[in-house]
Amino acid sequence: MGPNPSRETSPPVTIDLYSDTQTRPTPGMRAAMAEAEVGDEQSDSDPTTRALCERVAALLGQEAGVFMPSGTMCNLVSILVQTRPGDEIVVDDQSHIYNTEAAGSAAIGGVSVRALPTPAGIFSPEAFAAAIRPPARTAPRSALVSIEQTTSFSGGSVWDLADMRAIRDIAHAHGMKAHVDGARLLNAVAATGISAKAYAEGFDSVWLDLSKGLGCPVGAVLCGSGDFVVEAWRWKYRLGGAMRQSGVIAAAGLYALDHHVGQLGTDNAHIRLIHAAIADAPGLRFDPTAGQSNILCFSVDGLGVRAADFAAACLAQGVRVRAIGTHQIRATTHLDVDRAGAVRAGAVIRAAAHAFAARAAG
Ligand SMILES: Cc1ncc(COP(=O)(O)O)c(C=O)c1O
Repeated sequence: MGPNPSRETSPPVTIDLYSDTQTRPTPGMRAAMAEAEVGDEQSDSDPTTRALCERVAALLGQEAGVFMPSGTMCNLVSILVQTRPGDEIVVDDQSHIYNTEAAGSAAIGGVSVRALPTPAGIFSPEAFAAAIRPPARTAPRSALVSIEQTTSFSGGSVWDLADMRAIRDIAHAHGMKAHVDGARLLNAVAATGISAKAYAEGFDSVWLDLSKGLGCPVGAVLCGSGDFVVEAWRWKYRLGGAMRQSGVIAAAGLYALDHHVGQLGTDNAHIRLIHAAIADAPGLRFDPTAGQSNILCFSVDGLGVRAADFAAACLAQGVRVRAIGTHQIRATTHLDVDRAGAVRAGAVIRAAAHAFAARAAG
């Protein structure tokens, strides 16, 4: 067989900062999966899945949990349980729900989305209060607010606990439900030392992703009250998310909770390292909240270059970053990026900024 042409033309990706979803299961995790005790999840009799749900519910201080194939399904099911068709939900305009869930809430739930303008993915309690619609026959009913802790597309910013609680209380005072998209909640915990339970307290629905910084191949756990989880199960089933011997993948989640939570603080530290290396590179622009967790976003607008071209220049040097829109670059650290990788990534991004700046000047 001749050489693989794609291998000849594209350089090997040595440091993958595209997303923390790019991790591969470790040998220890694979062993735990192979040895998992299993049953039928659809009839709630898979012991490993049950153990995982109980563990995450306890971590989040919630009554119950349900295993989901993805975080996207956790968000969708939370919306479906807690809204009616014609209702409105309030999110930030950079949120995963608004931008990259294929408008599932509209397509399946018949819900409209009020996306609040937020430079760093975080809106104030005042902005939220102002967005709640007074009851009127002509208006949609404001039904649910979602907070993304940490923010994803706007750079891993960490919501302030007091603001989260203020928003939760305003929502409840208006008869609304309050939801936490906790895809990276444990990165916020690592960044602040505030417990997951404290962040989740009093929210009506909250979930953790297993397939991001925790390094699992698949899965998320959605939690809330016992009643909420009964209804969430109904939607999981309707959407085709009920499984059979899911203990094989739930075992990865239990393994990650035992072995990978400490890594999240290291991932956050690696982003700070990259941030420090490129903070004064020419033409790059950062939000004031940049570098708070394991994601770093910056604009390359000042270099007069498109994000896709900037990302291609980094990839040519073996560092994969993600272009978001025309001018934003996102870099995300995870357990497959070590300190040396973070140092090299900082140097490569910095060199790319200098090269584009020189080109613009000359
Ligand atoms: C903030 C946020 N919410 C939800 C999701 C969806 O998670 P999943 O990829 O498990 O469907 C993601 C995934 O990137 C995310 O970053």
